[in-house]
Amino acid sequence: MTNAIVSVSKESRLFEPPEAFAAAARVGARETYDAMYRRSIDDPEGFWGELAAELHWFDAPKTIRQWDPPKTRWFEGGTTNLSYNCLDRHVAAGGGDKAALVWEGEPGDVRTLSYTELLRETARCANALRRLGVGAGDRVVIYMGMVPEAAITMLACARIGAIHSVIFGGFAADAVRDRVNDAGAKLIVTQDGAWRRGKVVALKEHVDRALASCPSVEHTLVLRRTGNPIEMVAGRDLEWTETVGVAHHECDAVPVAAEHPLFILYTSGTTGKPKGVLHTTAGYMVGCYVTTKYVFDLRDDDVYWCTADVGWVTGHSYIVYGPLANHATVVMYEGAPNHPGPDRFWAMIAKHRVTVFYTAPTAIRAFIRWGDEHPARHDMSSLRLLGSVGEPINPEAWMWYRDVIGGGRCPIVDTWWQTETGAIMMAPLPGAIATKPGSCTVPFFGVVPKILRHDGTEAATNEGGYLVIEQPWPSMLRTVWGDDERFRETYFSRFPGKYFTGDGARRDEHGYFWVMGRVDDVVNVAGHRLGTAEIESVLVAHPWVAEAAVVGRPDELKGQALVAFVTLKSGREPTDPLAEELAELVSAEIGKFARPDAIRFADALPKTRSGKIMRRLLGELAAGQAPKGDTTTLEDISVLAALRTDDE
Ligand code: WTA
Repeated sequence: MTNAIVSVSKESRLFEPPEAFAAAARVGARETYDAMYRRSIDDPEGFWGELAAELHWFDAPKTIRQWDPPKTRWFEGGTTNLSYNCLDRHVAAGGGDKAALVWEGEPGDVRTLSYTELLRETARCANALRRLGVGAGDRVVIYMGMVPEAAITMLACARIGAIHSVIFGGFAADAVRDRVNDAGAKLIVTQDGAWRRGKVVALKEHVDRALASCPSVEHTLVLRRTGNPIEMVAGRDLEWTETVGVAHHECDAVPVAAEHPLFILYTSGTTGKPKGVLHTTAGYMVGCYVTTKYVFDLRDDDVYWCTADVGWVTGHSYIVYGPLANHATVVMYEGAPNHPGPDRFWAMIAKHRVTVFYTAPTAIRAFIRWGDEHPARHDMSSLRLLGSVGEPINPEAWMWYRDVIGGGRCPIVDTWWQTETGAIMMAPLPGAIATKPGSCTVPFFGVVPKILRHDGTEAATNEGGYLVIEQPWPSMLRTVWGDDERFRETYFSRFPGKYFTGDGARRDEHGYFWVMGRVDDVVNVAGHRLGTAEIESVLVAHPWVAEAAVVGRPDELKGQALVAFVTLKSGREPTDPLAEELAELVSAEIGKFARPDAIRFADALPKTRSGKIMRRLLGELAAGQAPKGDTTTLEDISVLAALRTDDE
């Protein structure tokens, strides 16, 4: 990583918060933000202690923050329960009748659950989990589509102190197997199938295949959603209706210690093995609660919709825990944005009178391509705030989002954060911070971001560098499941004592941050975070493949697309069917979303003297014009590589 990070964006437009918005906002002026931010840094104990006290504790915390890098502990001595704070707390305060989830299925069915109803369903599920032998600290894998039962199962686990690990429904059987085994899960909660663009994704079938080699799993709990035929193994597989459906509708929330593990979420890193990011109860709870409250500036009559999938961290923090802890009405949608037509989202905004809408740049770019006539057909005047997450948003997409979706009147909160950070780390507070298209603007309370050069010194204004975070924050990951050393090595060794994000960024003359993307071997494809090493290990498992290197190339729609460079064992010839077979292999083992856009065969891969593949060169090659004779271009690159002596 000796190469300088060059920033090319020259965006200078500035949008002040609309006056009426600021007047009604929780934080309505830049000075207020500045004062609160300063206090969060100078007096973190006082600042976080007061916010935490807005939530329910069975025992109040004795200390607020402990920091012994890389380990942090928050709210020690306190006992609480996140499920209680999302449900019982509101019902006890008289807010049980308010809609908690407004769920819309892909076929168009709608189901609304009030806070009281969501509490009952969660309690039933918690009782059923207990009956299946799940107790505090046990791991439960949730491999489902976007159905209310996914959120119910998460809340039920939190209620009894079990640790959930949600696996995105787009993962294939092998990827499920690896994650289940790493977590040592006792139970898998799944569905017969999930609806996606009118077709069934056969989730249970994938589970059956995975279970051939998952010795820790005792049971599966199966929700019938799509009605496709499935096999039920007697004694092992249980019907949701016959288990959860018949369970008692009351179940006390268990007080758990502040640092009790809440969930594991697997994310991609720079090795082939996905990392189980571990979040614990109280810090994560406070982080989600406070960021949702201030960044989305939620008020009682808001109808809030985040289009993420519960399989990713955004679904955890900003569909389930953050908004429910705030007593919000949450819209949850099951299916694809273009089913039955490209205006599905806009029709839903009009139908449910959505006020806050949170989506990803890759989706926005697809909407732009589908055409302005689709949003134009619907009344979206209910919207008052827009959000973006998952990857850098290009200024043109930002302007389109503002003008066409937001009618020019809604502020946009571009939120930068990660699976590891648990909650939003940088974003404009919509009533206080002027926005610039493409910038996530300023840090959230308690967050101290710095941009460092390779040698650890601080980068100058507008000089690109490595984004690190200097102080601990409540929702910081606590470790990598079962691998403290990997946790330390991945996040705290590059710049000792500081959390390394893996992102490159710059800070402009106004102190605004511009995140440019990953500087490690992680690629962001259509908002899905993928480790190139994970894909490479699938490719090299093919008997004909000698070596593989996967890189990202810029893609208009997906942000980045995957290109795999492959060398074959001697005597094997590159052919189109082989390329197809290799792409299919990735699809089958990891999931369709990880399928490379192009497989390019080469005689050799460019390497440094120490034998490291020169990914940056391959990235440049992948980004260039698609060359006809792939190998010739690669040979040129190899010659170039041979001349280079520096390690990347
Ligand atoms: C990228 C998703 C620029 C970044 C919440 C980060 C962003 C990775 C933004 C984490 C943003 C996320 N601007 N880049 N607003 N939000 N990213 O773990 O590269 O799936 O490191 O968490 O997405 O992806 P993850």
